[in-house]
Amino acid sequence: MCGIVGYIGHREAYPIVTKGLRRLEYRGYDSAGVMLYNEKGINLCKTKGKVSDLEKKAKAELDTKGTIGIGHTRWATHGVPNDVNSHPHLSNSGNLAIIHNGIIENYAPLKEELKNRGYTFKSDTDTEVLVNLIEEIQKTEKTKLGKAVQIALNQVVGAYAIAVFDIKNPEEIVAARLGSPLAIGIGENEYFIASDATPFIEYTSNAVYLEDGEMANIRLHKPIKIRKIKDDSLVTPTVQELQLNLEQIEKGGYDHFMMKEIYEQPNVIKDTYRGRLNANKGIVQMAGIEDNIEKFLNAERILIVACGTSWHAGLVAEYVIEEFARIPVEVEYASEFRYRNPIINKKDVVIAISQSGETADTMAAIKLAKENGAFVFGVCNVVGSSISRESHAGAYTHAGPEIGVASTKAFTTQITVLTMLALRLAKAKGTLSNSDYHRYLMELEIIPEKVKEVLSTNDITKEIALKFKDSTNCLYLGRGYNFPVALEGALKLKEISYIHAEGYPAAEMKHGPIALIDEQMPVIVIAPKQGHYDKIVSNIQEIKSRSGKIIAVVTKGDTQVRELSDYVIEIPETSDALSPLITTIPLQLLSYHIAVLRGCNVDQPRNLAKSVTVE
Ligand code: F6R
Repeated sequence: MCGIVGYIGHREAYPIVTKGLRRLEYRGYDSAGVMLYNEKGINLCKTKGKVSDLEKKAKAELDTKGTIGIGHTRWATHGVPNDVNSHPHLSNSGNLAIIHNGIIENYAPLKEELKNRGYTFKSDTDTEVLVNLIEEIQKTEKTKLGKAVQIALNQVVGAYAIAVFDIKNPEEIVAARLGSPLAIGIGENEYFIASDATPFIEYTSNAVYLEDGEMANIRLHKPIKIRKIKDDSLVTPTVQELQLNLEQIEKGGYDHFMMKEIYEQPNVIKDTYRGRLNANKGIVQMAGIEDNIEKFLNAERILIVACGTSWHAGLVAEYVIEEFARIPVEVEYASEFRYRNPIINKKDVVIAISQSGETADTMAAIKLAKENGAFVFGVCNVVGSSISRESHAGAYTHAGPEIGVASTKAFTTQITVLTMLALRLAKAKGTLSNSDYHRYLMELEIIPEKVKEVLSTNDITKEIALKFKDSTNCLYLGRGYNFPVALEGALKLKEISYIHAEGYPAAEMKHGPIALIDEQMPVIVIAPKQGHYDKIVSNIQEIKSRSGKIIAVVTKGDTQVRELSDYVIEIPETSDALSPLITTIPLQLLSYHIAVLRGCNVDQPRNLAKSVTVE
């Protein structure tokens, strides 16, 4: 979704803002813009397209001087992606400039009212309504920018992270958030504003994260002032020291962030279990669980809410928690859960899974769960994110920044955390035999080595990708633990290569999708030795008899499936329950290579946003 960047200080703002916008490109966007202020006034440049297009346009037509500036990458909601709808937007007088990430839901009546008062609108955006509302309040209430922003925000319904600049008070930016993230970097006589800390990491490691419903007056040479939008009460800013470093947010020699992140998996899975898992001592523990173990043990059921890839990790968790800990689990799309009047009991534990920790639907789902008295446990990657703060307790995945829009390392680290949770609960409940418990701990500890081994199939997957890069459809099949992996494999292919793909439980194929199979249809079958091997061999035979092209992910040394398949990718042997951590890897590689061969923008696929902060 949209990215916002702002700077006020002693350096030239333009390079900071544009470089910051590049860092936020991963969020997904279709247009970009920047506003700079200098003695000549406000200078604006906006364009449909990428930040590189903005820079080209700016070179030709923008006065880039100035030590105060705001910039924006827009992911279109209201109004098509074009130059005019791009942010920043100016108020009718030209005095105010705004950037906004979110949606103003009641923009239509507000716009009508402003039109009646003589305001005109150049764009189709809700944001232009907001900036003019602020201007109107400034006029009628004769207030300064901060107060006018506050009054305006109390009139709007929706979600926002905004930064507003007023030419009449050019030593200040006013920022506010509700439902969309906003971080303020605090340097020496300078401030940075951004959707996350990546745009300012090389300038300062001190940041304040605004909480929902807070606004900040960010003034040069003065401490920042934070207050609650609703009741004007002052909030003492909590300055956090950032753990991010530049290396983590750069490509490190890979062509794409996605590939870097796929290759990081052996290390980040280790980071996920470091200090939590000790197979020799038979220990698996996570602070968030230890402190709340009774909640889990007394739970009548566990509800998992998530979206997209995180929802797929939730499905894996359903299998592993039910098998190991014998607690009933239901997995829900957060977007459905929040609106379908679900039955939630005080004895329910709700696990929210989210890489970004900012997904609007997941956030709304946990608010609903809390209102109904459930205990909410967050599994997030981004430290300090909204979902991690809104949850009663949780466990971070420690995957490090995931910049590629297609989730890879987030998925495997989420499964790692959830498997540890299942093992911890199994230990407490005595639902796994001692030997099985220890065997799983041992196996989990060596999973990173096995992931490393699977990464060496990269060349084979590249060859397979060459054969299938022009396909228009693709089917992914798996059973048991590998059914969610089939869904995830199909999602990866769809989102980065734009090839239509479906994931199915292999046995369901006979109930419909089998009609699709002909000699043009690649079918990727996840068929490791453990699990339902014989059953899946039968499914493969059914595909073969209909001339489908079979690409199978098999356990090393397999001969039976190899004979039936057109291509095989070998993986090391692992128990069924842990196999998703391994079987996922070749599917990530396959979709990556197909997308590259098709010339797709792997890290920023069209129409997609990394962090979906609107519903
Ligand atoms: C797919 C992908 C998305 C996200 C989904 C949830 O590769 O990245 O499907 O998984 O938008 O995002 P988080 O996990 O941030 O809540």
